[in-house]
Amino acid sequence: PRPILLTRHGESQDNVRGRIGGDAILSEAGEVYSRKLANFINKRLKSEKAASIWTSTLQRTILTATPIVGFPKIQWRALEEINAGACDGMTYEEIKRNMPEEYESRRKDKLRYRYPRGESYLDVIQRLEPVIIELERQRAPVVVISHQAVLRALYAYFADRPLKEIPQIEVPLHTIIEIQMGVTGVQEKRYKLMD
Ligand code: F6P
Repeated sequence: PRPILLTRHGESQDNVRGRIGGDAILSEAGEVYSRKLANFINKRLKSEKAASIWTSTLQRTILTATPIVGFPKIQWRALEEINAGACDGMTYEEIKRNMPEEYESRRKDKLRYRYPRGESYLDVIQRLEPVIIELERQRAPVVVISHQAVLRALYAYFADRPLKEIPQIEVPLHTIIEIQMGVTGVQEKRYKLMD
């Protein structure tokens, strides 16, 4: 059975400021994670010559993959974070204050809520379909370095979790979720590399 390793990018400068979306680089802690992740991957996938590293096209995932050497890297636009449209770059506090109706609609139905000129979770789930097809086809391990909303959706697919739970699934920073698909079903392990 081949593992799929899911991880968010290392902490970004926008994570530190509490800003959503954007295309920030990593914070110092995020850079530390990128090196710890590379170490982990080297040990975990040592004999897995055909493994590959998939990132989004955003800097924070590409930078997180940078210290990983010896495996091919593939960038997917479909792995980009949920597009927050008019709210991109704002904090949740700012959205609550300046766009209270948007804030309230999202709170009421986070799965279906679509940001103005942006996406909903349902949109994200739909655009992930080609990624899932490709992941299912792989014979070798894949490391997916992506973003919170995207990883919630991917995780839910492989762990067989209901649609309505997706926007609430815990996908913390600096943690690797390893999914093994075997004949007896899906097994999961979590590795928290740092706080
Ligand atoms: O805060 C990090 C982040 O990846 C944002 O870029 C994104 O908008 C958000 O998480 C998604 O999480 P939620 O759907 O809970 O707002």
